Amino acid sequence: MKSIVINGGRKLSGEVSISGSKNAALPIIAASLLCEGEHRIANVPSLVDVKTLAKIMRNMGVSVELTDHEAVIDSTRLASPEAPYDLVRTMRASVLVLGPLVARFGKARVSLPGGCAIGARPVNLHIMGLEKMGAEVSIEHGYIEAKAKRLSGAQIYFDIVTVTGTENLMMAAALADGETVLENAAKEPEVVDLANALIQMGARIEGAGTDIIRIKGVEKLRPMDHRVLPDRIETGTFIIAGAITSGNIVIRNCAPQHLDALLSKVSEAGAQIAVDKDIIRVTGTGGIKPVNVKTLPHPGFPTDMQAQIMSLMCLARGTSVINETIFENRFTHVAELRRMGADIVIEGGSAIVKGVPKLLGAPVMATDLRASASLILAGLAAEGQTVISRIYHLDRGYEDIEGKLSALGADVKRV
Ligand code: UD1
Repeated sequence: MKSIVINGGRKLSGEVSISGSKNAALPIIAASLLCEGEHRIANVPSLVDVKTLAKIMRNMGVSVELTDHEAVIDSTRLASPEAPYDLVRTMRASVLVLGPLVARFGKARVSLPGGCAIGARPVNLHIMGLEKMGAEVSIEHGYIEAKAKRLSGAQIYFDIVTVTGTENLMMAAALADGETVLENAAKEPEVVDLANALIQMGARIEGAGTDIIRIKGVEKLRPMDHRVLPDRIETGTFIIAGAITSGNIVIRNCAPQHLDALLSKVSEAGAQIAVDKDIIRVTGTGGIKPVNVKTLPHPGFPTDMQAQIMSLMCLARGTSVINETIFENRFTHVAELRRMGADIVIEGGSAIVKGVPKLLGAPVMATDLRASASLILAGLAAEGQTVISRIYHLDRGYEDIEGKLSALGADVKRV
């Protein structure tokens, strides 16, 4: 099994370029199921999750070509609107094919995503929304089976803000009969990017980026030519890499406007941040200050950056409290950070992190995607060698992370 070996203690310097957003690319690729013709999607990151979605769609008979950060998709001939368990189980976001399939073909059979390392993560709200739009949905033998002659517009209120739930129903509503209103919708930039792609396809959507999204269904959509926005979580991870190593790095091709909460917390922790259009320069000044963090739906602090900021707080001069409000079991990195000398106590949904003067390299195990990133960050700052195993999680969401870090002067390799 592959591992990442880091010899810590090097200050990072130089430039890094950010890839396209995983969480925007996935729903946008799924949106190509909504109409026939050739779709072109640029700035698609080269990641295992994207390849998994491509496999699921090819398995339906769709043509998906992934070349040099471009996806060319033609779903004119879709043989079976079905996503099987053995492909879906590795990636929860596979459920994003559900909305488009029901909307265009009137039926879908999609495996339930199954357990997930970071909490129960149900899909009840996706199903509730489709039912409100007139679909008949049943769960049989571990599969969601949905049917509808044509979906009809509906008023849908989410009692929990859900990102992929909002995306799934926005896609379904694009071809429904009449107007759909999504209330308490997710406001994440990835939802807005998907809305922009759909609008380019001829969808009539207003309000994406606010908590009320209105979608007037149309009869037919046309293929898109869309460029995926930069990955804000990859950007955030590099921001912390700069801060935690007292480095000086320039992050290019990013979207600083999507990172307000993180930039404000990292500045509060003492790093210097300068923003210029799509560039962020981070200068780590040493002497990290403790900051309290609470994860919230966008524009709050992203849960996908919680593990990484915790690594930074492990080295702060003082105690910080990190409160996770989105997922109930998203502290699996804590036990591993402790192996490196971190002083962290979990109390309910909060981690109390007492900064220590230094972390020491150790063998650790990646437990989920963002937890893996936090261990890499800790390893970069630690004294000695850190060996991270189970790094397949990392390849789901970070394109060539060891290549990008090496180019910044880190001593990182995959063995
Ligand atoms: C998306 C992101 C993921 C991020 C998460 C929260 C993608 C592909 N993934 O995941 O990286 O960590 O948003 O920002 O975009 N919930 C329900 N019922 C549902 C749906 C969700 O109770 O039907 C709950 C979840 O258990 C969780 C909360 O809502 O507690 C938020 O989850 P959600 O926004 O749906 O996460 P994802 O869309 O799966």
